[in-house]
Amino acid sequence: MTHKPSDIAAGTSRPLLRAVSPHSEANDNGAPSLSSRNPLEVLAQEHRFQAEVCNGLERIADGLPDELDRRLCQQVVSCLRYDLPLHHRDEEKGLFPLLRRRAAPGDSIHEVLDHLERDHSTDEGFADELIETLDRLAAGHRPPNPEMVGYMLRGFFEGYRRHIHWEETLVIPLARQLLTEEDRAELAACMSANRLGEQPCRK
Ligand SMILES: [Fe+2]
Repeated sequence: MTHKPSDIAAGTSRPLLRAVSPHSEANDNGAPSLSSRNPLEVLAQEHRFQAEVCNGLERIADGLPDELDRRLCQQVVSCLRYDLPLHHRDEEKGLFPLLRRRAAPGDSIHEVLDHLERDHSTDEGFADELIETLDRLAAGHRPPNPEMVGYMLRGFFEGYRRHIHWEETLVIPLARQLLTEEDRAELAACMSANRLGEQPCRK
């Protein structure tokens, strides 16, 4: 059975994240392996998935404190814990170094990439706090301070939506323009290595 990202927004009880994530090198539903796909399209697909996760976080915030979807909390935790850091590694170890190599030395994209990397670090720290909170909500605990939890959730998804927007409007289009066929193959290999826990390909 296949699952779609929209399952998060729909709040279904399916174990969706492993299946919808474009991360798996060989997935069990017969979809093409990562190495045979355009890695930039995989990253763009991951951004769409992350946007769904942000929608899920917003639903959780809107449901506080009494109308919580515990299953949704679990699904979002899985994404924050596994998918988000992996996606960041794909970009930091794969895409960004290739773009820096292809962009002109004085191009403003260098500063943009530096900024986005700092975002990744901040967001992962923030996500760790959310994971702890969402784990407790998923286990049925009532939040001691719903306003504070809502504030945390909104701070994260609003910031992350802006982050996705920058990457989708600036970074991915530039990569489509600048990266050669060889670069794309290198990026795909790097992403595969990330999924296998191997050392990243770029120095
Ligand atoms: Fe990204």
